Amino acid sequence: MTIITVLGTRPEIIKMSPLLPRFDGLGRHIVVHSGQHYSAEMDAIFFRELELRAPDHFLRVGSVDPARQVGLIAAGVEKIILESPPDWVVVHGDTNTTLGGALAAAKHRRSGVRLAHVEAGARSFDDLQAEELNRVLVDRMADLLFAPTEGDAANLAAEGIRPERVIVTGNTVVESCRRMATLVDGELPAGLTAYGYAVATFHRQESVDIPAVLSDIWAAISEIAKRLRVVIPLHPRTRKMIKLAGLDPSPPGMDVREPVGYREMTALLKHARFCLTDSGGLQEEAAILGVPALILRDRTEHRRYVESGLHRLAGIGRQAIVDEAKLLLVDAEWQSRRAIPQRLDHGVADRIIDAIGA
Ligand code: UD1
Ligand code: UDP
Repeated sequence: MTIITVLGTRPEIIKMSPLLPRFDGLGRHIVVHSGQHYSAEMDAIFFRELELRAPDHFLRVGSVDPARQVGLIAAGVEKIILESPPDWVVVHGDTNTTLGGALAAAKHRRSGVRLAHVEAGARSFDDLQAEELNRVLVDRMADLLFAPTEGDAANLAAEGIRPERVIVTGNTVVESCRRMATLVDGELPAGLTAYGYAVATFHRQESVDIPAVLSDIWAAISEIAKRLRVVIPLHPRTRKMIKLAGLDPSPPGMDVREPVGYREMTALLKHARFCLTDSGGLQEEAAILGVPALILRDRTEHRRYVESGLHRLAGIGRQAIVDEAKLLLVDAEWQSRRAIPQRLDHGVADRIIDAIGA
């Protein structure tokens, strides 16, 4: 059997890490890195920390306009499909890399190439979001869809996708996060005290590309930082937009850093009083580690943790974010609340490997 895996951004590397060595064991496995992320702290560090072998191909598309990026990735993957016709092309999630890889596979369906989508069926129902478009299109093209939850499978059914193409597997991030959480166990990043800080990450286009929205979120976090130190490993998109918007790059109480590796991120999150985030992956990891998240978005595709009461949708308005954070800061029951177990997934990689290997 020949499998081509296409990846190229930080979350894809992290969330595919439980699967990559196991695909190596199924036959010929070709790993294609799109180059959508390329800075060492967004890319190489995760291969090192997660002990992943080097990709076989680097497309080096870099940061270009989105349609061009998708096109370059599709063309690059197509070339590899033609050289080494695969049984499966596997993509993950909702990035431009995901869509590029999926398009290339779908165009060669008649030659027997099948497309598998890991983390299928997630929906924010926000059609303006770049990721929502990518998810919907990739799910429409995929032959096999690995849905993290029953709710994600129901989203696919509602879009007319035949149930025999869908397998509910759980989310691979549970395995990535648990593995790292065990490794970092008692580690606390230097200079911090457990639960004596919050951690924040945000980078979505809809949060950072509009200066008024970015300025509001930045002001809200600055306000919170007056009461509780906030550690922010800043995504390169956010750093660029803060500079363009002329905002204070380092307000008092805010501990602004370069993006950190997965080990440091897991240690930071594990001991944080709470996190503020618009990241999909971080919402899941916060739930796995029992850390409350204030979600800096109006909608989320990870509703089950909001429904369970651990996470709260704060939105992107300054006052709403500050008010939600204040509620968490005065919550006398916070320690017992974070101990409430969330419903988590087991055997996720096994289910995916069994289906691909069948
Ligand atoms: C992409 C994904 C998003 C995902 C995120 C993970 C799409 C549409 N978006 O967003 O779903 O949550 O990755 O982090 O695919 N840059 C660097 N170094 C890098 C990569 C990017 O400096 O290694 C800078 C560049 O200025 C670039 C900007 O960050 O223009 C944005 O990068 P891009 O890959 O376009 O989108 P992300 O915001 O990272
Ligand atoms: N992450 C990391 N270092 C950071 C910020 C995030 O290792 O400085 C990890 C985080 O723990 C999660 C993943 O990157 O596993 C999330 O990626 P990102 O927020 O870039 O994308 P999203 O999940 O929103 O698609």
